[in-house]
Amino acid sequence: MGELRMIKIFDTTLRDGEQSPGCSMNLQEKLEVAQALVDLNVDIIEAGFPIASPGDFEAVRQIASTFRGVTICGLARCNDQDIDRAWEALKHAESPRIHVFLATSAIHRQFKLKMTREEILERAVRGVERALSYCDDVEFSPEDAARTERDFLAEVVEAAIRAGATTINIPDTVGYAVPKQMGETIAFLMNSVPNIDRATISVHCHNDLGLAVANSLAAIENGAGQVECTINGIGERAGNCALEEVVMALRTRADYYQCATRINTRRLVPTSRLVSTITGVAVQRNKAIVGRNAFAHEAGIHQDGLLKERTTYEIMRPEDVGWSKTDLVLGKHSGRAALADRARALGYRLTGEQLQRVFEQFKLLADKKKEIYDGDLVALIENQIRSVPHEEWSLVSFRVSSGTNESPSIRLTLRRGQQHFTEECSMGDGPIDAAFWAVERITGVPVVCKDFHVRSATIGRDAQGEATLEVEHEGDTYRGRGVSTDTVEATIKALLDAINRIVLTKKDAATTSATTSDGPVQATNAIQ
Ligand code: KIV
Ligand code: ZN
Repeated sequence: MGELRMIKIFDTTLRDGEQSPGCSMNLQEKLEVAQALVDLNVDIIEAGFPIASPGDFEAVRQIASTFRGVTICGLARCNDQDIDRAWEALKHAESPRIHVFLATSAIHRQFKLKMTREEILERAVRGVERALSYCDDVEFSPEDAARTERDFLAEVVEAAIRAGATTINIPDTVGYAVPKQMGETIAFLMNSVPNIDRATISVHCHNDLGLAVANSLAAIENGAGQVECTINGIGERAGNCALEEVVMALRTRADYYQCATRINTRRLVPTSRLVSTITGVAVQRNKAIVGRNAFAHEAGIHQDGLLKERTTYEIMRPEDVGWSKTDLVLGKHSGRAALADRARALGYRLTGEQLQRVFEQFKLLADKKKEIYDGDLVALIENQIRSVPHEEWSLVSFRVSSGTNESPSIRLTLRRGQQHFTEECSMGDGPIDAAFWAVERITGVPVVCKDFHVRSATIGRDAQGEATLEVEHEGDTYRGRGVSTDTVEATIKALLDAINRIVLTKKDAATTSATTSDGPVQATNAIQ
């Protein structure tokens, strides 16, 4: 193999990914994801769209001020206010980048912007120049480039480079392109834009036709040097190009693409798990690279072949993308060191205090369940590190009865501080509904359940059930999560987790409005 061309990985999980429904994150969660992206070794983190909301601004500002050794990027439309705000958020970054965008396709020009080609050209150049007045790393995106007339696209790209843009990103904003066409667009720009060698060409593909990764690879094959992608492929509508897939395609088929990235591929699975847990958006089982079945061989012939020679049926090694080699792990007699070791192998960095709490939960679980698998451990760890630090309400005990032709009833006791509160009720259409009623009555926090899932954390009928839910309260959405070998208990814990977040948000809002003379700060990102 000759020398490999380096492809820059531009991660937009915190911007394009986060802006999609159901994927919003609070500040703390964004900082956690940013840390994971740094550990993954991405080249550029697009941390948000600072003008979009005070929450977005603050996230970009804190990420820019915290992380070193990586470029931090903020998005802006081609207008002064957006660009100034982006710079305000980015100015403390070690390596800041302003990303300006403006739609160029005929549809967008005519219906959205109501601007002529000349006006678009002029606005794009002004945007790039303004961004350059703040920092010398400026990316320009002609939005909806894949549906833009090629001659005009080339004109805009040439003008943006002449104005000083150092990266030109070619977005397929609506996921309309097909691989051959995407490749030809990049090749056309490479061959017809005279100053193209003065900028890095990037690609940003949406997945509406399931072609985002294929289109990105076609662009790379034709000269793109940067690919924009997200963890688990989250993003607007059907999402963006999945980082884990494009990176592993380049690595596994380096013989074909002759390219490489700086990504630490062993962090792919832990990072995927983190983003999935934080957003509550599950990764489909058969998802390439990071899905639970990605390396599971079921067919007897395949298993036989694998045992004889791994490469008969495996093109990648599971451990190279962060799957641990074995699954069966610990038992009743395992100690704290073994637990810490396993947690590390699964990609977690626990503090001493977190490890102690997980260990206590682990011992309780080991009394109920003989074999503790990785999935059990992940559920326990996630539960510890994601729950609200100082919970207002916690579960003391419950008893529930339900049956055929019988209305369900529940006796529930919760704790707040030192006080216990008990409610007995016979309501709802099943034990879960009854539990919702009882929790609402005790806490006095009414919620509307918008989404609710229970899944088993591992195999076996004694597996822990992991309940995740999304509830609405006063127009805002909150997530909750709970685990237990009893699924009603897991659900009550998940509901209390969401209610504790509601209480915390209200307390924070009360403190903020008491301490700011300008009145309450607008809540921009209610999902906690
Ligand atoms: O899809 C898109 O066009 C975008 C741009 C802002 C790059 O996300
Ligand atoms: Zn996009």
